[in-house]
Amino acid sequence: MGKDVIVACDFSSARQVFDFLDRFTDKKPFVKIGMELFYAEGPQIVREIKARGHKIFLDLKLHDIPNTVKKAMAVLSGLDVDMCNVHAAGTSAMMKAALEGLTRPDGSRPLLIAVTQLTSTDEESMRRELLIDRPLDETVMHYARNAMESGLDGVVCSPLESGKVHQVCGAGFVTVTPGVRFADGDVGDQKRVTTPARAKELGSDYIVVGRPITAAADPVAAYNRCVEEFVG
Ligand code: C5P
Repeated sequence: MGKDVIVACDFSSARQVFDFLDRFTDKKPFVKIGMELFYAEGPQIVREIKARGHKIFLDLKLHDIPNTVKKAMAVLSGLDVDMCNVHAAGTSAMMKAALEGLTRPDGSRPLLIAVTQLTSTDEESMRRELLIDRPLDETVMHYARNAMESGLDGVVCSPLESGKVHQVCGAGFVTVTPGVRFADGDVGDQKRVTTPARAKELGSDYIVVGRPITAAADPVAAYNRCVEEFVG
């Protein structure tokens, strides 16, 4: 699995994202487009960023009945994205339907990864509101295994969970990990953070990095530093 740095383009307009991407005249980073930008600008923003030569992780976290997810995924696959995702909580039937929808007539498809439990969900809210009595990490690993058995390619998780996910689901099962900060950088609202170098040691396949790059005085230098530390 090729290790790479994915830049979270958490902007709310095409203008902002293009001003940011225009700085990258050499290597075109793999970018993550989330709900904010997608809902603001629609599918055209995906086509335009793709046309500029970037790989795209479209982070829309689908979760609906299998038929709806299958049809929505067929549309996203037609946008020629490289990676997209669903909530594992949608169950195996939904994850398998998502895979079917994503698969193009020639058999190719974007990588499909699953969100297990959101990091904003803690054990207490899981127990009280979702009536899940198991420990959080057990739930995360169980959802990861469901995703793997449904044929998905990997999960979004903390770098601290990458090793365990690989143990449970196999070394080829992709871990995409946010919560990355430089050793000398701002932590912001992230709770458990890891440096790019540490994420590499822990076995992450892709790191997702937002503000340490997008809010840096020199975003290209920050990106290159991330790549150097993580990919080497
Ligand atoms: O700016 P920062 O590096 O914190 O951005 C991290 C990106 O990863 C954001 O787009 C955020 O929504 C996403 N993410 C996360 N934690 C998760 C899942 C996704 O930070 N558990």
